[in-house]
Amino acid sequence: MSHRKFRWGIIGCGLIAPRFTQDLFDTGEGTVVAAASRSSQRAQHFQKITGVPNVYTSYQTMLEQEKLDAVYIATTHNFHAENARLCLEHNLPVLIEKAFTQNARQAEEIITLARQKNLFMMEAMWTRFCPAALRVQQLLAEQAIGDLQQFHADFCVRMSPFSKKMMPWNRMYSPRLAGGALLDIGIYPIAYSRMIFGQQPTTITSSAQKSWSGIDTTSRYHFTYPSGAESIMKSSFTTAGSRDARIIGSTGRILIPSLHSADQLILKQHHQPDQHIACGTPSFQYQIKEVHHCLQNNLTESTRMPLDETLQTMQLLDTLRQQWNLTYPGD
Ligand SMILES: NC(=O)c1ccc[n+]([C@@H]2O[C@H](COP(=O)([O-])OP(=O)(O)OC[C@H]3O[C@@H](n4cnc5c(N)ncnc54)[C@H](OP(=O)(O)O)[C@@H]3O)[C@@H](O)[C@H]2O)c1
Repeated sequence: MSHRKFRWGIIGCGLIAPRFTQDLFDTGEGTVVAAASRSSQRAQHFQKITGVPNVYTSYQTMLEQEKLDAVYIATTHNFHAENARLCLEHNLPVLIEKAFTQNARQAEEIITLARQKNLFMMEAMWTRFCPAALRVQQLLAEQAIGDLQQFHADFCVRMSPFSKKMMPWNRMYSPRLAGGALLDIGIYPIAYSRMIFGQQPTTITSSAQKSWSGIDTTSRYHFTYPSGAESIMKSSFTTAGSRDARIIGSTGRILIPSLHSADQLILKQHHQPDQHIACGTPSFQYQIKEVHHCLQNNLTESTRMPLDETLQTMQLLDTLRQQWNLTYPGD
């Protein structure tokens, strides 16, 4: 059944917003009709590079003046809950960038409000919807590597605190903006671990190295599961280390080069030649189509990225930060 094109608004005109705009356009199912930034300079720059018809310097004004079907929240983690509340108060469905909020308390508050108002809400964990992640889930369901025993994943990306891409300075170093490797990049392997094991870990141990500003620049996480299986993960933005993952089972392994942007997998089965499995190009399109599917079918939640799971992920992130004594203003 065809549907008229979905009309999206964006809150926050930073680095990721243009990519969302392009990927939405590429779905052929919708378009960004308006965006809002607190900075007129950022709003104008965004309009110049994307051609989005209307930009605003007030989120509220955009929500009041535009006829929107959904809003993509692309601000820093500390603002997500406040921005989501504003959209829900204007009866608008929301797709919220990861990390969903800065802590589990905020996540619970906005999930409760969305459920009370019967409005759609989803965490933009885009990797979950990409072809490589779907293929991994299929292989595990087919027992292609036997019983799941270990998940290893690193997400390391070297980034200067004074990166020119980030204005006025790298938000990842800021406690006020809920920065740190955990919320920004560590969440990818953690959410992946949750996806493949389908449950919360029974034990959680971790360590972190902190910056002068007090956030984690490198953090390591070790989870164990009731079956005895384990996940060993690391994230860092002070080293140009690995971004790869491997899933180890009793009869084989799946190697995932570049976990969060994988377009191929290598399946290694006992006594079998390696299989190189090409998967489609990763993009935000898959998660956007999931939102459209839910809106078209009057679903207030995605079954593929449920809000209860998002909340549990936020609880895990809180536990890890407690282990390192890392708090953000407003926690
Ligand atoms: N899916 C992905 O691959 C991916 C990649 C990168 C980021 N993300 C996620 O997307 C979100 C935004 O990331 P980004 O890299 O686009 O962030 P960003 O460019 O640093 O900032 C996004 C917006 O947050 C607000 N902001 C940034 N720094 C601020 C400051 N110092 N004071 C007040 N407000 C500030 C601004 O909103 P206004 O324009 O309204 O003023 C800015 O446009 C985060 O949740 C991040 O984890 C996802």
